[in-house]
Amino acid sequence: MRRKIVAGNWKMNNDLAQTESLISGIRKKLKKTDVEVMIAPPFTNLFAAFEALRQSPIEVVAQNMHYADNGAYTGEISAEMLKSIGISTVILGHSERRAYFGEDDALLAKKVDSALKNQMTIIFCFGEELADRKSENHFKVVENQLKNALFHLPAEAWKNIILAYEPVWAIGTGETASPEQAQEMHYFIRETIAEKYTDKISDYVSILYGGSVKPNNAEEIFSQPDVDGGLIGGASLVAEDFIAIVKAL
Ligand code: 13P
Repeated sequence: MRRKIVAGNWKMNNDLAQTESLISGIRKKLKKTDVEVMIAPPFTNLFAAFEALRQSPIEVVAQNMHYADNGAYTGEISAEMLKSIGISTVILGHSERRAYFGEDDALLAKKVDSALKNQMTIIFCFGEELADRKSENHFKVVENQLKNALFHLPAEAWKNIILAYEPVWAIGTGETASPEQAQEMHYFIRETIAEKYTDKISDYVSILYGGSVKPNNAEEIFSQPDVDGGLIGGASLVAEDFIAIVKAL
């Protein structure tokens, strides 16, 4: 059985008070669900969020980390540090990290290795840009992103990998991939993994879709057979919207 997940990526939003208030809004409205729910607040609010959700099934996850365990890397946070405050899942490879902070596949492969060495679960993000899709290169781009950052891993590592396909042209733009476009790419991702590894691994890995998922389009996207949930940006900052999306899965 694949994990069904809705994760809220808060990005660089919400101070401490806003974090507490959004968490309390989500908790009040989200009574019972079969879906795994995660939120990813900024680093400064991770511990407060973790404490606030200690008795709750909602998991608190990090948006990024450095590949080293510690050392002279001013401004960075390691897997060990995240683990020490109770965080055991991290988002890696988000397109905003790739575009604005120069994170490339080689760096991401190092981060992936470090997270796994520290027994963390990874939500690995990837996806093509608009120009790639226009030139019909989107499958190749996605295949390379997977190969370069993940295909050095041994088969057993995949139990700790969650994939998040996020076409860059759909992030924060209000333009969502159509359910057919999402399904087509998720199916392709599964095939690519099956070719490199086994059918069992490709059947098991959860593949989330991200990019302008909203309450009014979530159900249609989530109904696709190879879509196992969503990574939600903007709509995860409003408790009612986030919960409506969780309920759509
Ligand atoms: P939006 O839902 O705001 O498009 O963001 C998606 C995203 O980047 C989640 O990681």
